[in-house]
Amino acid sequence: MSDLKRQAEDVRSSFEQAIASVTATDALQELRVRYLGKKGELTALLKSLGKLPPDERPQAGEAVNALRGQIEEKIERKKQDLTRAEDAAAEALDKVDVTLPSRGRPAGAFHPVAQTMHEIVSIMLGLGYSVALGPEIEEEHYNFECLNMPSWHPARDMQDTFYFPADEETGRRLLRTHTSPVQVRSMLQYGAPLRIVCPGKVYRRDNDPTHSPMFNQLEGLLVEEDVSFSVLKGSLRELMNGFFGRELKNRFRASYFPFTEPSMELDIECVECGGKNLSCRVCKGTGWLEVCGMGMVHPFVVRSGGIDPERYNGFAFGLGLDRMAMLKYGINDLRLLFDGNVSYFLSGRDA
Ligand code: DAH
Repeated sequence: MSDLKRQAEDVRSSFEQAIASVTATDALQELRVRYLGKKGELTALLKSLGKLPPDERPQAGEAVNALRGQIEEKIERKKQDLTRAEDAAAEALDKVDVTLPSRGRPAGAFHPVAQTMHEIVSIMLGLGYSVALGPEIEEEHYNFECLNMPSWHPARDMQDTFYFPADEETGRRLLRTHTSPVQVRSMLQYGAPLRIVCPGKVYRRDNDPTHSPMFNQLEGLLVEEDVSFSVLKGSLRELMNGFFGRELKNRFRASYFPFTEPSMELDIECVECGGKNLSCRVCKGTGWLEVCGMGMVHPFVVRSGGIDPERYNGFAFGLGLDRMAMLKYGINDLRLLFDGNVSYFLSGRDA
């Protein structure tokens, strides 16, 4: 046997021994480098082929190359086995046994936002409203035009809205940026008089600790004859006090929305500090929380809904369900609502 052949046999048997004792993928990678890497044992053999007399080279070369093929194949097969075993072990470690009985708490519960939505809807049902739903993939027409937001309006800026590519038949579609388009859809569908609330997901190009690209709103709309602003104020007071379970101070501030005139915003007393803590992290020491935009529905919008604004008027409001849930349940980071991290609830406040 030539020297080189003997060396090849040595490499083979040391490799066989080494691979048999490898039990993890990172150790396998080290093994690969040790044999097949630039300075690896097999690579050294390949390099030394050049020093053989020309007539011995082909045969020796063939043998070393065959060995290389076998080593590669064995490493690959071992890698697959180890990866499978490591994945299975990681999965077992991660496993939540959903059949286990609960630890004294009710087994399963609604998500805080779903719970908030149910509570608010149930208060509004008590005030004579029905639930209406609309599509999340919306037409530009309903999301903006019908709501008195023509194409030049800043709220239509590309930064705020997720648009779909334009389509010749349907025009430009988008992910609705608010639940307000359901106002117009409902007026067109049901006519007046009308009382509806519309809960649902809305989307904006925003992502930071206090904004999520998807969030939840609830829209309210009442259209009747001779509706006064005081009915709106009374309904919202009822809604807030009912939701937080106590009488809260409130104030209505003048504001602007294109689809209402006049427009207002509702602030309630801080549910965390009651306005008593100047360094309160929830109200930032102001004592007030902005909770809801609203106003008397703009005649343009009433007409977009196919209803005669000379005969009917009404009010609308929109509030953020995620924010309401955070305020009620003392959740201080919006992202907790969306990341589905069960361990926070197991090891944190609730365990
Ligand atoms: N659509 C508004 C938003 O997303 C919220 C809103 C404000 C809705 C005033 C209304 C309203 O119905 O009257 O910011």
